[in-house]
Amino acid sequence: MKVTVYSCREFDERELFVKYGKELGLELTLCPDAPDRGNLALAKGSECVDILTSKMTRELLAGLKENGVRYLVTRTIGYDHIDLAAAKELGITVANAPYGPHGVADYAVMMILMSIRKMKRIIERTNIQDYSLKGIQGRELKDLTVGVIGTGRIGETVLRNLSGFGCRLIAYDLFEKEGVRNYAEYVSLEEMWKRADVITLHAPLTEDNYHMIGEDSIARMKDGVVIVNTARGGLIDSQALIAGIESGKIGAAGLDVVEHEFGLYYYDRKSDVLDNRELAVLRGFPNVTVTHHMAFYTDDCVETVVRDSLAGCRLFLEGKENPWRVA
Ligand code: NAI
Repeated sequence: MKVTVYSCREFDERELFVKYGKELGLELTLCPDAPDRGNLALAKGSECVDILTSKMTRELLAGLKENGVRYLVTRTIGYDHIDLAAAKELGITVANAPYGPHGVADYAVMMILMSIRKMKRIIERTNIQDYSLKGIQGRELKDLTVGVIGTGRIGETVLRNLSGFGCRLIAYDLFEKEGVRNYAEYVSLEEMWKRADVITLHAPLTEDNYHMIGEDSIARMKDGVVIVNTARGGLIDSQALIAGIESGKIGAAGLDVVEHEFGLYYYDRKSDVLDNRELAVLRGFPNVTVTHHMAFYTDDCVETVVRDSLAGCRLFLEGKENPWRVA
């Protein structure tokens, strides 16, 4: 039973692949690179292929098919990088490997706390032995109203996490969930903009909510509002965010995702001149914490996606029911 694994990271995934490959009785070909025309032949003889977020076009899928591949699993929750229509036509089953919501939910709470406690400024000062206090007085969560947009797996976990801090919790989602009412009051978006001191985003990016945080919504928010985004960059209009920070309307932001991050994040680009001006400006503000889309990145997440992506291959090869199949 053979599986070809692409984009296998040496420093955190390889050892786990060896461990779980052995446990599941799979023979693995581990390739550090993303699948491309030059290395598709590595999949020859493997019915299953395991990938990360690289774009799987019709052409690449057809190439895999020619090499005998019948099952493609992505070690991610999202699978919009795979041409599902082409996969279906070619008879390739597609699966994912979701990880739990806790890593991202913890991270969102950390971003909220870092923002309201002015942690970026504090760390910058201690690094240069500036132990003064002026300008770094924080606020306490118990005095604030936190608004959660998107109460799915992660949003609900954020609410549960925050319920111990004594803050008022409000939430907005297109579909309201009974369990969420144990922690938060569902409100309209209008009410969210009006009442929230902190807004944290946990909705997927869709055509309808593209730039939902923009000039108009920011104008309706409370002065000094804190915005945290661990969901998708396109939910926020970066230009409007920058204008809001410059005017002081927005008090702080914590951004694990930004618009146009593709091609930057997960690469070492320190010697390059980049063409993402918004990111450069946002990074420069003392009240904006920017991280490179890594809220998910925990021991638990890495182990889960490696283990479950291979477990799905094993089930597929045995012709058994597969809970990770998406198409
Ligand atoms: P989920 O599918 O469990 O929940 C999403 C929720 O958003 C659902 O309740 C849905 O009804 C709601 N929603 C959809 N459109 C909406 C809208 N226009 N307004 C308000 N609510 C809306 O998703 P999950 O797993 O909780 O993920 C949430 C977000 O976190 C996604 O954007 C995902 O891409 C992102 N994410 C970020 C990671 C990171 O490392 N920064 C890692 C994993 C996920």
